[in-house]
Amino acid sequence: MYALRRTTQNLAQKRAFSASASQYYKVAVLGAAGGIGQPLSLLLKLSPKVTELALYDVRGAPGVAADISHVNTHSVVKGYAPSEENLAAAVKDAEVVLIPAGVPRKPGMSRDDLFNTNASIVRDLADATAKANPKAKLCIIANPVNSTVPICAEVYKLRGVYNPKTLFGVTTLDVVRASRFISELKGTNPSDEKVTVVGGHSGVTIVPLLSQSNHPDISGEARDALVNRIQFGGDEVVKAKDGAGSATLSMALAGFRMAESLLRAKDGEAGVVEPTFVESPLFKDQGVDFFASNVELGPEGVKEIRGVGDINDYEKGLIDACVTDLKKNIEKGVAFVKTNP
Ligand code: NAD
Ligand code: LMR
Repeated sequence: MYALRRTTQNLAQKRAFSASASQYYKVAVLGAAGGIGQPLSLLLKLSPKVTELALYDVRGAPGVAADISHVNTHSVVKGYAPSEENLAAAVKDAEVVLIPAGVPRKPGMSRDDLFNTNASIVRDLADATAKANPKAKLCIIANPVNSTVPICAEVYKLRGVYNPKTLFGVTTLDVVRASRFISELKGTNPSDEKVTVVGGHSGVTIVPLLSQSNHPDISGEARDALVNRIQFGGDEVVKAKDGAGSATLSMALAGFRMAESLLRAKDGEAGVVEPTFVESPLFKDQGVDFFASNVELGPEGVKEIRGVGDINDYEKGLIDACVTDLKKNIEKGVAFVKTNP
């Protein structure tokens, strides 16, 4: 009798749970066998929001998928060998498509030095997604993000399916780093440290707004050093890896956070805010059509682009330098698709 009562109770609990439970989603990773792709896919496998994980790469995706598929969470993992049909199948019906495909930096290189190789990789993967699943939320990790995102926008425009609400440059790593670096400096818990970072994703286009952090008092050389570390944090990793690539593990965490935030917002959760590089009105009057700032996410993707807020003269100077570089990076991406459609 006791056992029967327990079973009935459990069933009732399960029903109540499923009535309020979130939806489940397919997520695709293009470049899934790479340094970022593998740990990112593993984190996605651990997410209760993901029911299907589609892993595509020009090499090695079926092996990575077989490996990750043994992790004992309920989602199904499928690996796709390279072909046009497989790429279309991988992205079809995905709620979120993440693109970490492309080459990483070596010491001495800028992100812009990756343009010649990565522009066409991202263009072609974006084109396949535009054809097979134009409504997916497309998250671009491949560098140079300041140019690869405008490339995707142009590709989607050529296909007549561009929706600025569903195209995101992943800049989450910049706020992850800023939070960690400021906590190291101040001896605080990084989970209490939120630093707004705006602009783009390379060098001086990365603009941390320390005046809006918990520590607006940081000034002088300490401030300059912290800002520099946040702007050039990627170089620290590139240097330490000494030719073996750039940030992969911290980036996987950051990419996962962005993907999960999109799924939480899709589920109707209110107040989901992430920094991301999107088509933005904030600096359009200065010829900059894409800009990273805090963006409230909703079921359709971008819900509200937040402004940069109150900033001091020092930060105004950082933004001026950012805008000059960003404009060139964006124009380069747009021009690439115009001449290489
Ligand atoms: P990686 O070389 O380890 O992995 C890249 C993967 O992409 C490889 O497995 C490769 O086979 C695959 N690939 C190449 N061309 C492809 C194509 N046409 N279709 C499908 N897959 C393809 O590099 P990584 O360390 O994972 O870095 C990937 C990219 O992410 C680089 O461009 C890097 O600069 C960038 N990145 C961005 C951020 C960010 O904050 N946005 C952070 C770190 C790295
Ligand atoms: C990063 O910020 O770590 C990435 O953009 C990779 C790089 O080239 O630094």
